[in-house]
Amino acid sequence: MDFPLPLIPLPARLDRLDGEDFVLSSASFVAAGPECRTAAEELALILRRSTGFELPILDGEESDGGITLVIDPDLTLGAGAEPAPGPEAYSLTVDRTGAVITGASTAGLFNGVQTLRQLLPAAVENSSPVDAQWRVPAVVIRDSPRFAYRGLMLDVARSFLDVAEVKRQIDTMVQFKFNALHLHLTDDQAWRIEIHNPEHNPSGLDYGALTTLGGTGAVDFPGVGLSPGLTGFYTQAEFTEIVDYAARRNVLVVPEIDMPGHVNAALAAVPQLTAGGTPPAMNTTGEVGYSSLEAGNPVTYEFAREVIRQLAALTPGPYLHIGGDEALVTPHEEYLSMVAEIASLVVAAGKVPVGWNEYAAARIPHGSVVQYWHGSAAATLERTSDAGASVIMSPAERTYLDQKYDPASPIGLSWVEGGPFSWREYYDWDPAGLGIPGGSVLGIEGPLWSETVRGGRQAEWLLYPRAIALAEVAWSPQEQRHAPDLAARLGLMGARLALQGVAFQAAPDIDWSAEPASPFDF
Ligand code: ACM
Repeated sequence: MDFPLPLIPLPARLDRLDGEDFVLSSASFVAAGPECRTAAEELALILRRSTGFELPILDGEESDGGITLVIDPDLTLGAGAEPAPGPEAYSLTVDRTGAVITGASTAGLFNGVQTLRQLLPAAVENSSPVDAQWRVPAVVIRDSPRFAYRGLMLDVARSFLDVAEVKRQIDTMVQFKFNALHLHLTDDQAWRIEIHNPEHNPSGLDYGALTTLGGTGAVDFPGVGLSPGLTGFYTQAEFTEIVDYAARRNVLVVPEIDMPGHVNAALAAVPQLTAGGTPPAMNTTGEVGYSSLEAGNPVTYEFAREVIRQLAALTPGPYLHIGGDEALVTPHEEYLSMVAEIASLVVAAGKVPVGWNEYAAARIPHGSVVQYWHGSAAATLERTSDAGASVIMSPAERTYLDQKYDPASPIGLSWVEGGPFSWREYYDWDPAGLGIPGGSVLGIEGPLWSETVRGGRQAEWLLYPRAIALAEVAWSPQEQRHAPDLAARLGLMGARLALQGVAFQAAPDIDWSAEPASPFDF
């Protein structure tokens, strides 16, 4: 047996078959019914680039000589009384005659397509046709995720990423079966999402200034020798373009408007939010915890309601993140009342509120989601249990992708205790083992804060390979995960990332099959 196969995340079950492998050829095709069409097009797009084969998409279920995509909502993955595998489950069978991917839904099918992609030789990641033997090992895979929510967060507030850069991040993350992209859209330094002036505007607020002024900000982080952050914002049409691009690839966008702290750019743009005085100037320092909305100012709620209403209308997914972290200058009683009120506005807009774990101290609506990043897990658990909430695990010392890899990393932060952090610290942990039981864990997310990150390539370098380790933590059974085994598969993944042109840290404890595509420039 020529293990390891270069599969990340590791599938729940994999059996090698004794028979002959399947070899993709110029005569191959993709067979797919109408509901499988999107997954078929994604698959064909990947395969045509590097093979140069025509790979027509046939309507229906051919079996011999091609790749067949099927949806079966009743898909089961094993014998006996196993729990229903959920919509993201799939099975993949490869033998001499071809490959069949059966998804429990379109999401499962998309996951199966990514697995098939990884079973092909690394040359499949070439962007133009190459000569290769397109051999797929004969296997049966039955697979479903451990956790429903498997996310990355991009902080586009401190330093902006444009639409093309975000799409590229989506392209890269989906091969590891991530299914959520949290966009941190607002912070002290900037506001990145266009909000229209509504017809009903009792206080005459100029929401347009959020981006005409707030979009011009970015962090200017002292001491790391980097250029100032990148500025810009998404129009609503551009944001929709990102959401649609993500949805087609089984990724849910979770937008965040951080409140009641981290709001300096909003206060600067909308003076009425500061009832008692003059609005602050824009502030590009990396400081945190110095700005706040005001609980006693009715404009606070008028503003929050309108922003949430427009953002909810742009967001087909269930979640809307309202921040709630580091409101250090907000009097505690005011914090509690504002968070409770803002969370209820999210529910009124038809969405499930998500907030950083501080917000669980407030009366949050039943069924809310809490994103745990630091502090007492026991306190978070107690509060989330009271609220019937579930938890996204983002403990800083296990998931924060903005941290340095080692003291010499040219970018990255180092405030999280226990660092610096390589892929291994982000792999060797159990999301259900930190005081919050697995039944309450919705999933995990790796946040990439961007105080020191300029543009997509630097983002990639901090993300990879650590994000790949997180993807496997989120997907694969705990008892099957072993760091030395992942190390071998990461090494194999290097060639694929390099062919994709994805920057990654050449972790010194990995035997990389390729050096990073190119170092990034400072
Ligand atoms: C956070 O890192 N302030 C959530």
